[in-house]
Amino acid sequence: MATQTTKRGGFGGKIAAILAAAGSAIGLGNIWRFPYITSENGGGAFIIIYLGCILLLGLPLLIAEFAVGHNAKSNPIDAFSKIRKGWGWLGAAGLISVTLIMGYYFVISGWTLNYALSSATDSIGGDYGAFFTEFTTATWKPLIYTYIFILANHFIIVGGVQGGIEKASKIMMPLLFVILIVLAVYSLWLPEGREALGSVFTPDFSKVTGKTFLDAMGQAFFTLSIGMGAMLIYGSYFKKGTKLAGTAISVVSLDTLVALTAAIIIFSAGVENESGMQLAFVAMPKVFSAMPAGNIWAMLFFLLLALAALSSTISMHEAVTSYFVEKRGMSRNKSALIVTFIAIALSTVASLSLGDWSEYKVAGMNFFSLLDNFTAIVMLPLLGILTSVFVGWIWRREDMRAELTAEGGIDKSSYPIISFLLRWVCPVLVSIVFAFGIYDFINTL
Ligand code: PFF
Repeated sequence: MATQTTKRGGFGGKIAAILAAAGSAIGLGNIWRFPYITSENGGGAFIIIYLGCILLLGLPLLIAEFAVGHNAKSNPIDAFSKIRKGWGWLGAAGLISVTLIMGYYFVISGWTLNYALSSATDSIGGDYGAFFTEFTTATWKPLIYTYIFILANHFIIVGGVQGGIEKASKIMMPLLFVILIVLAVYSLWLPEGREALGSVFTPDFSKVTGKTFLDAMGQAFFTLSIGMGAMLIYGSYFKKGTKLAGTAISVVSLDTLVALTAAIIIFSAGVENESGMQLAFVAMPKVFSAMPAGNIWAMLFFLLLALAALSSTISMHEAVTSYFVEKRGMSRNKSALIVTFIAIALSTVASLSLGDWSEYKVAGMNFFSLLDNFTAIVMLPLLGILTSVFVGWIWRREDMRAELTAEGGIDKSSYPIISFLLRWVCPVLVSIVFAFGIYDFINTL
């Protein structure tokens, strides 16, 4: 039974709304994932396609998700079913996906902690590839860091929406921006940095394939936390009078700026030939080690990753916690504890699947890659299509229009553009890219 009588928490104001939502968006996706996906897909050419996806698909979908949450003022499952009876499953699908994402995301977050600490104590030295492999495939060490990270999350969530999430975002996000700017200025100050930059951002269209579009779209959805209930629950906490479109534009701008700056920092270090998920963990420590006071720079870099990861994981945790609080009528503490235990269980299996349990595979993938690929390639596009169909076709037109134009802050002249993007462009374009991507993906299995 839903207990709608509990007093809901909320953010104190507009800046808090922007910082919390930007915190959800800016994460490992920007600093760890974006640079390596860009380098694998032809640099500048990929960035152009990615920016197209952000503007045409990501921004309207983010506004849509804020609107659903803000309109219904409920957890993701109740929000969809309040707007249209029988659609609660869409919220549930988002919550299942975000739970699966937590399963591997917390593991990488744990790595960032170990790397920040090991850099501070200057103990990474030697063969960086071997250090990474030895650490990530070990049994206990990565698990302990992962658990510490999950606990940090837990305490923020237990603190409540304003006392926990808002407060943490107000400390973490400015700190994150300062570290990012310091690192960017430093890397552009190095002559080899400026040189490397040009070559990476120059578009190479020969590397663009059908898969490039799926990667760009998947990255756009992942980085904006689309379809997972995280932005929906934050939207439901926005104070009356918070302009949804304006907030979404601020979030998208900050998120894009951070992704591009992270790419500048990483590529200006001259590591564009390294690829894959090792880019941040193997190439960067190696680069830093050759610099004066390199361990301090390395520590700052991994601290940046850890902060970004923490501000994202609290939004994932909150989305699922809100379900237990509002739909199951449990206390916030108990709800958070359940989610924390689920996160511990999944991330334990994900971490062990890289080492001790690496021989257990499904479709050629260990559990860690399975969680990553299934959510990124299947769930994200699917949830993107369904969310746009819901907002564009299922939600009563007048109600959707009222939400977007009154509370949403979209003026009458731009409303038709957003409406057209949500009704036609998103479902059609995402379906096409999804179909081609799945076809490609199945062929590679
Ligand atoms: N947007 C986050 C990132 O770029 O790392 C990841 C994320 C956060 C995905 C929250 C999903 C979510 F619900």
